Parts: sequence; C-alpha cells; structure tokens
Amino acid sequence: MSEQPHVLVIPYPAQGHVAPLLKLATKIAEHGIKVTFVNTEFIEAKVMASIPEKAKEWRLIKFVSIADGIEQEEDRKDFAKTRDTMLRVMPGKLKDLIEKIKQSSENEKITCVIADISARWALEVAQTMGISRAPFIPFGPACLALSFHITRLIKDGILDNNGKAMIDGLISISENSLPWKENELCWTCRGKEKIQKFIFESMRSSVQYVKMSNWVLSNSFYELDSSSCDLVANILPIGPILATNNSWHLAGSLRPEDSSCLNWLDEQPLGSVIYVSLGSTTTLNQQQFEELALGLEFSGQPFLWVVRSDLVKDSIAEFPDGFKERIAGRGKIVEWAAQEKVLAHSSIACFVSHCGWNSTLEGLSMGVPFLCWPYFADQCQNRNYICEVWKIGLNLSLDEKGIVTKDEIQTKITKLLSDASIKENALKVKEKAANSLVEGGSSFENFKRFIVEMKSI
Ligand code: UDX
Repeated sequence: MSEQPHVLVIPYPAQGHVAPLLKLATKIAEHGIKVTFVNTEFIEAKVMASIPEKAKEWRLIKFVSIADGIEQEEDRKDFAKTRDTMLRVMPGKLKDLIEKIKQSSENEKITCVIADISARWALEVAQTMGISRAPFIPFGPACLALSFHITRLIKDGILDNNGKAMIDGLISISENSLPWKENELCWTCRGKEKIQKFIFESMRSSVQYVKMSNWVLSNSFYELDSSSCDLVANILPIGPILATNNSWHLAGSLRPEDSSCLNWLDEQPLGSVIYVSLGSTTTLNQQQFEELALGLEFSGQPFLWVVRSDLVKDSIAEFPDGFKERIAGRGKIVEWAAQEKVLAHSSIACFVSHCGWNSTLEGLSMGVPFLCWPYFADQCQNRNYICEVWKIGLNLSLDEKGIVTKDEIQTKITKLLSDASIKENALKVKEKAANSLVEGGSSFENFKRFIVEMKSI
C-alpha cells in the first residue's frame, strides 16, 4: 500500500467551480494527504497566470493538466460543442493520467477522486477503475435536495421532461424547506434553452452519482440550511470553504486580481464602501450598466465596483458622460478583485451581488449584508434564502421594462445601510459560519471524518 493517501481533485472548468475546489484541495493537503489538482490545459494556464511570481515555487498541491479536446478557441463560445467535446475526450485522458500515476512507482495509487458534480464523467472513470469517489457540490444543498425530487415532480405532472414547471406558483419539496417559485428553479436560464436543458439534465443525473459515491462534499454548513441537508442522505457539509494562509496566493482566480483595491479600501471610512460584483459570467446591456453606474454615484457612498472586460454584453462598457471625473476619489473600478479579502475588509458596508453560491458564502462568512441581483440558475433561490430565510439582505427589483433603475439602486442602498436588524442578522450568520469551522463545529467534524476515512482506505 502507498505510504500516503493520494487524492485527485477535478473541477468543472469554470470560475465558480475551480476556486472552491482549489481551496478545498489545499485544506486536504494541509492534513498530510497528497493532492493532485487536475485542470484542463486552458484553465490551468489561467490559474497559473493569476498566481503571483514569488508564490509559484511553493505549492502544497501538485497541478497537472489534461487536454479538453477543443482545438479552436472560437469553439469555446459554442456551449453544446464544448460540452460534447469534453465528454468525448476527457474521460480517456483522465484514465491515462491515473494509469500513469499508478506506474510511476510501485506503491503509488489514487485513493479517492473528488470531482465537481458537474464533471460527472470523472466520477464515472473513478467508478470503472474501482476508486473511491466524492462528488463536490459547488451550489447550495437546496439545489441538490431539489434534484432528488425531480423524478417525483415529473410523475406528479408538476414538471415536464425538460424541467419546465407545469403549474403556476410555488413548488414545495418538503414541509420545512423553502419552496421554489415555478420560474426560479435552479436550472432556469431565460432565453438560453440549450444551457437550461444541460443544467436540468445534470441536476437530474447528479442523483445517481451522489448515490453511488462514498462521500458527498457540500460547500455549506449544516446550520445554514439544515432542512435541505436532511433531505440528502449522505451529504457531508464541510463549508464554508474559505482561503487559508496556504491558499490565499492561489485562490483559483481565472483573471489577474487587482490588489490596488485593498490599499484603496484602507483609506476609506469603516463600514462605508459598497462592494459591487456580479460574478464571473453575468452580463448587462449598456443601458443597465449606465443605470448601475448612476445608482452608485447617486448613493453618495464610496464604492468598489468590479467591471470585467466582458461585463457588458457584446460590447465594451461605456460609462455615462463625466462619470469617472465625478466619482474620482470616491469610486474605485477594477477588472477583478481579491473578493474574499475585499469582503473581509472593515471598510465594506454591503455587497451588491448576483448571489452565486460562492459569493453568497463568502459574503455571509464575513457578516456583510447583501443587495441581491440574481441572474440565472441557483442565484434566485440563493437570493430568496438571503432575503427571506436568513434575512441578511434586500432584493433589487426590476421595473416594468426589466431594468434595475438608478433610483431603485440608490433607494435600496440607503435602506440597507440604515437597517440595523439586517446587519445584526448578518453578524449572527457570520458567527454560525465561524462556529461550524472550529473544533466541535459541524463542518469541522464532518471534514475530520472525511479525512480520517480517506486515510483508512
Ligand atoms: C457560478 C454560479 O453563478 C453559481 O451560482 C454556482 O453555484 C457556481 O457557478 P459565478 O457566477 O462564477 O458562479 O459566481 P460565484 O459562485 O459567486 O463565484 C464567483 C467567484 O469569483 C467567487 O469565489 C468570488 O470570490 C470570485 N471573484 C469574483 C473574485 O475573486 N473576484 C472578483 O472580482 C469577482
């Protein structure tokens, strides 16, 4: 038998999936387990480019990359083509990699494959090779619990075979958990039928991979949504998975972080800055972009705004006339921030967020109130938890033309910043999250169990 357990960690190749798995991989390695992190070549180049030069020498985990089979960069824009090519090419590459590791020395073997549930082909490879499996769930337990009810919902005529709701109103999966609005199911992707179908099929089939696995690692903590956790038999909530001293320098950003915003935050008054980030894929149209800019300007507060180069759909973002001059000194705009560090900064007052699951966990772990602006998939239900269950944020409403207006943004910022009960709730949730991660806490103990069991394979 190998001296040291050896785990392969395989993310789905996208920002919200690579980042939490890299942090988890580092945490596992801190417990004396050998970890090989398997990226696609495309993603690995981006991850490496975002690691500061001086941190490149020292690594707790080993990185390897495999080809995803996509030869023309143009093809990456074609969702179906990318998915089909990856499914065709990557299982074979992974199998070859595992064989190569086995042959590298007499006692070497892979103890466990931890793969994003969205990269289920990797779990299949592990199964056929007789290796233990742990799917990683990068979204909240509520979505996983919903997946377990898809078959029944179809049978009862509540969903059709493509995941479309056949009823108006709320869809409930258990007495205790938050019901789903029929147009906010976690595969909802308005106007993008192919992607919606893919997410629905992935969620539907995830059940079989969860059932056939040894552990199901959830990036959440039990107390955050115990009702949903109780609906998934073998779920092991081990989150929130945050960066540790060993993983700050490789937080898994696929874009270079602009660290100048941290110095800028140092100069702002305590609890004053509105942090605005709509995640890695959200796009706005030019009109919506301008409304957001003006809403931030009119709020009168300092703000830090992540404006990705691809934030405005199909064109380059154009700021309103004179905007940059008017907000100089009060507004900081960056292409990409070190988000966890930003949210932990004492100058931050609130987080205007698209409510991606990682952003949700990062914000609530730092006790930051939310202004919610969900876009697709699980983000609407995450927003519902934030506003209705945990009561740590407010929602930004669309007007009759589907726009979040500057007035709405300005009004809600003022309302949120003057709401003492939301801030109090946010601090309570922060405390619960922190408690789950210390000895005796639910996530700490679950993680310990996982490590002990893995070491005993
Ligand atoms: C997507 C979905 O939106 C999410 O709901 C799903 O659960 C995972 O995949 P994404 O849009 O990337 O994720 O959002 P989110 O899950 O919030 O992840 C974004 C990550 O990028 C966070 O970890 C955040 O810290 C990081 N980030 C964002 C930065 O590091 N810097 C930035 O400037 C913005």
